[in-house]
Amino acid sequence: MAQSNSVLTIKDLSFRYDEQTVLEDIHLLVPKGSFLAIVGPNGSGKTTLLKSILGLVKLQSGSIELFGTPISKFREWPKIGFVSQKANSFNSGFPATVFEVVSSGLTAKLGLFRFLKHEHRKKVIKALQSVGMEEFLNRNIGELSGGQQQRVFIARALVSEPELLILDEPTVGVDAQTVQAFYNMLEDINKNKGITLILVTHDVGTVSEKVSHVACLNKNLHFHGSADEFEHVKDDDLSQFYGHSLQLITHD
Ligand SMILES: Nc1ncnc2c1ncn2[C@@H]1O[C@H](COP(=O)(O)OP(=O)(O)O)[C@@H](O)[C@H]1O
Ligand SMILES: [Mg+2]
Repeated sequence: MAQSNSVLTIKDLSFRYDEQTVLEDIHLLVPKGSFLAIVGPNGSGKTTLLKSILGLVKLQSGSIELFGTPISKFREWPKIGFVSQKANSFNSGFPATVFEVVSSGLTAKLGLFRFLKHEHRKKVIKALQSVGMEEFLNRNIGELSGGQQQRVFIARALVSEPELLILDEPTVGVDAQTVQAFYNMLEDINKNKGITLILVTHDVGTVSEKVSHVACLNKNLHFHGSADEFEHVKDDDLSQFYGHSLQLITHD
């Protein structure tokens, strides 16, 4: 049954690649306006879960509803912005400006020529402002740092004004000082624009200050609750959950 304020409802989801079960018995409810971090070690199924949500892999068992609609009938994909894990790997010779990269997020939705030029430009600048990158408008994407490129790709996802923004490991390759500013930016997008955020990361240390909810994934969902609840279980349970790949980064 669809919950009216739920942007994503997952029930009993399992997924396997050939012999290997990658996701098992996943239940997840993401209310409108929340900021969910999905944390888990490498290979725990995070990207596969996102691919399932985005319809990029076929549903094998269980159900996924997006904005109250079963994924098989869902057609409003422009409501969902996605920044993939490998978005920020342009080399310095890549021939596109920041403006062009962000613009490409608009053409995907609306068709290249439907916009008046200045309106188009205004939307691109607004998206860049929300990630603090407006002054880089005419720079070459390849000349920017990994963290700056990541912001530009978030602007590209924001330019079509999605209601749900999904980010797959956006802070990989971003240096530690920049990570905090990056989370502040996401918090701002969540609170001030009212965009529901799902952030996937293997870094459990820094996320819980900024997010409203945390889900710990390792094939199964080992924990799903508020960020406050997560703070209480974190120290006792997570080293067991993570085993040797635990990456706790302290931030005070
Ligand atoms: N296309 C694929 N075919 C077969 N196995 C895959 C494929 N993609 C991922 N896997 C495997 O599924 C598991 C989960 O991968 P993934 O969802 O990428 O995890 P994470 O994003 O948490 O690192 C890993 O063991 C990975 O090797
Ligand atoms: Mg991944």
